[in-house]
Amino acid sequence: KIYQIAVVNGDGIGEEIVPAGLKVAEKVAAKYNFNIETSSFPWGAGYYLKEGEFMPENGLEQLRGFDAILFGAVGLPEVDDTLPAKDYTFRVRTSFEQYVNYRPVKLFPGIQSPLRDKTEQDIDFVIIRENNEGEFVQNGKIMYPDTPNGMAIETSIFTRHGVERVAHFAFKLAQKRRKRLTNVTKSNTLIHSLLFWDTVIQEVSTQYPDVEYNKMYVDNASASFVLKPEVFDVILTTNMIGDILSDLGGAIMGSLGLGGSGNINPEKDYPSMFEPIHGSAPDIAGKNIANPIGQIWSVALMLDHLGESEAARDIENAIGKVTAKGPLTKDLKGSATTTEITDAVVKAL
Ligand code: NAI
Ligand code: MG
Repeated sequence: KIYQIAVVNGDGIGEEIVPAGLKVAEKVAAKYNFNIETSSFPWGAGYYLKEGEFMPENGLEQLRGFDAILFGAVGLPEVDDTLPAKDYTFRVRTSFEQYVNYRPVKLFPGIQSPLRDKTEQDIDFVIIRENNEGEFVQNGKIMYPDTPNGMAIETSIFTRHGVERVAHFAFKLAQKRRKRLTNVTKSNTLIHSLLFWDTVIQEVSTQYPDVEYNKMYVDNASASFVLKPEVFDVILTTNMIGDILSDLGGAIMGSLGLGGSGNINPEKDYPSMFEPIHGSAPDIAGKNIANPIGQIWSVALMLDHLGESEAARDIENAIGKVTAKGPLTKDLKGSATTTEITDAVVKAL
């Protein structure tokens, strides 16, 4: 079996950790008897500086035929990242209907969480973030900004179709895990959009009577991430809430550099895209000190999505072996390089 993978390193540490992820992918492919063929695309903020756009006009068409996309992160300090036209990530996620953003949070062996009394059993849940609509549809305008009457509006969009499909994914995932789903919402103040969100999810929940369904407001959920993460199994939440909570999830795992994720189109009508939860970390780029584990974990999530579940589990176990004994990178108070961690994971495989 041959998998065609589009590779987009992006900017900053993406150039270092994506190749690290591919090294691990090659090792596991040899072990499990499949092949990975890659094609690289030099897109992102660096590309923008040369070409005036984050990816070519026909970039999506170029990606369309691949089995999956392995992505690092885009963004450079000298490039304004507020202009939507520049946004590679947003275009791929929405155009390819990657409506599930799958973000597992778990404590790897040997890693000290900043929640000092919490164990591997306590920190083990998945954030399912709605990835195509909600607060991030970029639907708004700024009016008369330089006058005393200046104002701005930004309208979220939630559709029944959009909420139902991500809810079904999350409930099915909960059925395979500890059968508990928490809808993280803020419908007590966003009384139109998130009331609708809650209503649709509540309806979907009746089709999964074996899953314990509950609702939690995001303010309480933020505190619970820190005080009692053990109450979570599958979290289902909106685009913006999920974005914010997943960095908090990365933090309680011990480092943002550990978090992997998938932007998934469950129907496989389009390629899905796998990337670490963090950004391009320009502050540490080019030094071979970035933690590659979030990217390597993203490779595992990619292989799982492609049907190579055994290989995926093997990578996760290999990561655990490395975190248990070291070496570790600087973000985890170690002194190992990106290359050393990558080689250690390959060796563990
Ligand atoms: P960031 O996630 O890049 O960095 C936050 C902090 O975490 C930094 O101190 C960084 O050094 C550290 N860090 C992140 N990943 C690490 C790793 N693998 N190993 C060790 N330390 C790591 O977030 P920031 O600084 O807000 O954004 C930097 C750029 O990345 C911006 O241009 C932003 O727009 C972009 N960005 C891109 C994303 C994407 O392409 N999906 C997601 C988030 C941010
Ligand atoms: Mg984010």
